Amino acid sequence: MQISEEIKSRLDIVDVIREYVPNLKAVGVNFSALSPFKREKTPSFIVSPEKQIWHCFSTDKGGDVFSFIMEMEGVTFVEALRILAPKAGVQLKRENPEITSKRNRLLDIMETAAIFYHKIFLESPAAQGARDYIYQKRGLTEATVMDWQIGYSMDSWDDLLNVLKKKGYTELEVNAAGLAIKKEGRNSFYNRFRSRIMFPINDINGNTVAFTARVTPERESIEQMGKYINSPETALYSKSRVVFGLDKAKMEIKSQGYAIVVEGQMDCISCHQAGFKNVVASSGTAFTGEQLKLLKRYSDNLKLSFDMDSAGQLAADRGIREAFAAEMNIKVITLPEGKDPDELIRKDVEAWKKAVAGAKHVMQYYFDKVFAAYNIEESEGKREAARRILPIIARLPDRIEQDHWLKRLAEKLQVNETALRETLIANQAKIKPSFAKATEGKPAETALRRESREEKLTQSLLALTIKFPSFFEYIVNRLNLDHIFGADNKSFYRNLIIYYNDNVSNSDNGRKEINYQEFRNWLANQPDGLANDGLFRLLEKIVLAGDRDFYGLESDKAKNEIIRIIIALKENYLSIRRNEISRLIEELEKDGQHAEAGKLMEELKRLSDESTENISELENI
Ligand code: UTP
Ligand code: MN
Repeated sequence: MQISEEIKSRLDIVDVIREYVPNLKAVGVNFSALSPFKREKTPSFIVSPEKQIWHCFSTDKGGDVFSFIMEMEGVTFVEALRILAPKAGVQLKRENPEITSKRNRLLDIMETAAIFYHKIFLESPAAQGARDYIYQKRGLTEATVMDWQIGYSMDSWDDLLNVLKKKGYTELEVNAAGLAIKKEGRNSFYNRFRSRIMFPINDINGNTVAFTARVTPERESIEQMGKYINSPETALYSKSRVVFGLDKAKMEIKSQGYAIVVEGQMDCISCHQAGFKNVVASSGTAFTGEQLKLLKRYSDNLKLSFDMDSAGQLAADRGIREAFAAEMNIKVITLPEGKDPDELIRKDVEAWKKAVAGAKHVMQYYFDKVFAAYNIEESEGKREAARRILPIIARLPDRIEQDHWLKRLAEKLQVNETALRETLIANQAKIKPSFAKATEGKPAETALRRESREEKLTQSLLALTIKFPSFFEYIVNRLNLDHIFGADNKSFYRNLIIYYNDNVSNSDNGRKEINYQEFRNWLANQPDGLANDGLFRLLEKIVLAGDRDFYGLESDKAKNEIIRIIIALKENYLSIRRNEISRLIEELEKDGQHAEAGKLMEELKRLSDESTENISELENI
């Protein structure tokens, strides 16, 4: 019997589904409940114990127990196997062809590494400094260190590599898992993480897919790479699709009815240790639409706790915009100036509890912030306050809520509601479909969406890449995912990089190049469902566009074109960043936070310098 058949035969679909849909009620021979995939008033979700199948009539999804797990957890068939096997008391054997995929080998590598680092942390004399720091300075308990599998990487170029090689993995595989780095110009590798405290980053099912690694305090002054470094993007790990802590928090989020989002991993771990287990971390950046979609499986309600410094505020603003687009309800936790959740919990747990309970509706948060900054007794102040708040109201997903806050604003400013409403409507017209919405759109809608100039430029660049593969290394070294416009284009570029790192750059003769057909086959063989139909369509489109636009182009002309596009894309990104930061500086100055504004001015200057370099490079063509 196939392993999947055996698992099915040992499980009752009703038991499995009930874990996710507790309100399943017997109706005749079947069970029924409100759809777990869509908000609805009358139950359209049906499970048949006799046939061991399910169907959701409002979303038209259905199938067996595997397809249910795939839908519910957003995972592939192989992952659904992994989830259900232990429930069925079935052991998955390594030799089983259904699970010996490349992805599973990478997952095994990550698991081995997590155990390896963890053991060093617990036992090695070399980790004494790390242990003192974690236990004494950061106040973590042994139980917490175990739960989160905190580890330590030695000051070694190859200890982990050797352990993995002994277990039968190749250096290329370790590289593909993100744990090794290739030596420049040579076909050998060294450990990516050295002398750092290691925190495993897990996917929603608790599989380690990446690490984030913190310097120890004794190295903080000499370390060049930043306080935290992360695994790179790999076939297992996409930063924008993983939420730190969600594997441990998910059920608690569901039962408490909301998630708390903090910035740092240490904040998240501290919260859990203190008994707040519905907490996840955004890891220092704003949540993406994809991350919110993961959270939304467990609750629509978020409480955000971002640092009050400028970077935190910027992340908060962006996160809030994404969360609006994902139709989530947002509250904001305000902390005392200069404290993050971890520090507050260690100093005064009651104060943290109060801050969480007193979280403000996001609009109230903006009202308070804006009204503290302007004198609304004067008409100038009124206008500015309205100018700041209306665009936010315009983004509220719910019409009734919009109405409510519009009324409140009119009262507060003592102005005519009709005038405000007109401005609101003008604002709404300006809101572009957000990233989250755009990626969720059905294929037909996406096809109709007009591509921006930047998206077209991005596609030209990708077309040139396929047509002139020898320049790929050059492109990758200059353009990262931030510079790429359009969700599909990002996904395309990301996959191309992974494919390249997996296959091309590591090839023995070192002279292989990206090849359309090979890339296509590679995509088709990716077991984790990364390559959807849209991606193949985009690939075909890009290849054909390359033939159409760049047929017969000479290589040096192609290179100039590539440079021009790279610079245009970077400039676009820089100008968006500059605008964002300028706006924030303006706000901070109005709030009288001159020191914070000063810091951002430096950042602004750095961005301008980068721009100047770009321009001079362009002149050299
Ligand atoms: P913070 O600088 O506020 O650090 O960065 P923290 O979370 O308080 O860290 P501890 O308490 O000193 O250990 C907030 C978050 O930004 C990301 C990390 O996710 C961090 O938790 N970050 C920060 C990086 O990714 N890289 C860095 O170099 C710094
Ligand atoms: Mn901290």
